[in-house]
Amino acid sequence: MAIRNRKTRLIHLRRSIYVILAVAALSLSVLCAEEAAQFPENFRRWVHVGTGVIMPPASPQMTSEEGMHHIFANEKAVEGYATGNFADGSMVVYELREAKQQNGIIFEGDRKRVDVMIKDSAHYASTGGWRFQRFWKDDQAQNAVHDNGTSCFQCHQKANAHGFVFSQLK
Ligand code: HEC
Repeated sequence: MAIRNRKTRLIHLRRSIYVILAVAALSLSVLCAEEAAQFPENFRRWVHVGTGVIMPPASPQMTSEEGMHHIFANEKAVEGYATGNFADGSMVVYELREAKQQNGIIFEGDRKRVDVMIKDSAHYASTGGWRFQRFWKDDQAQNAVHDNGTSCFQCHQKANAHGFVFSQLK
């Protein structure tokens, strides 16, 4: 009798360990559900679409964009710029740097931010087929967009006539 009791207790213990392990695995998978960041390597060697400079004091809506920004497109996106139809695999980068001014010369300084759009129509149907990501300064590991790109797309959808891409390559 005593042996049997010990056995059932052991079985119970083993069962609770399995349950604890299963719960731990589940919560881990929920925690890791956020997709891994995709930083566009060597984007400065892609095609340069254009550059803009917003010098301080900028209007309140534009202060976040103060500096010098460059837009770069990979090969696939270059084709999209011509047709307004961006194929899967297209990538466009908006790189914001400090704008320094000295003796009438404006030149770029440190990197402030990198915004990235990657086209994958099956996965990102709710944001026009684009994945939106944001990286601060020189960080390449942490994507600062946590709302699946909804807030980025709210504005970018105004460019719907050109595949949700504002800039033009002409
Ligand atoms: C309030 C409107 C607005 C919001 C919000 C916005 N963007 Fe943009 N974005 C623009 C405009 C306008 C341009 C074009 C800038 C230029 O041509 O100099 C642009 C350009 C870009 C580009 C270059 C491709 C293009 O459309 O010309 C990328 C990449 C980009 N944004 C990513 C993002 C990401 C990522 C977010 C969210 C974290 C975001 N944007 C939020 C207005 C917005």
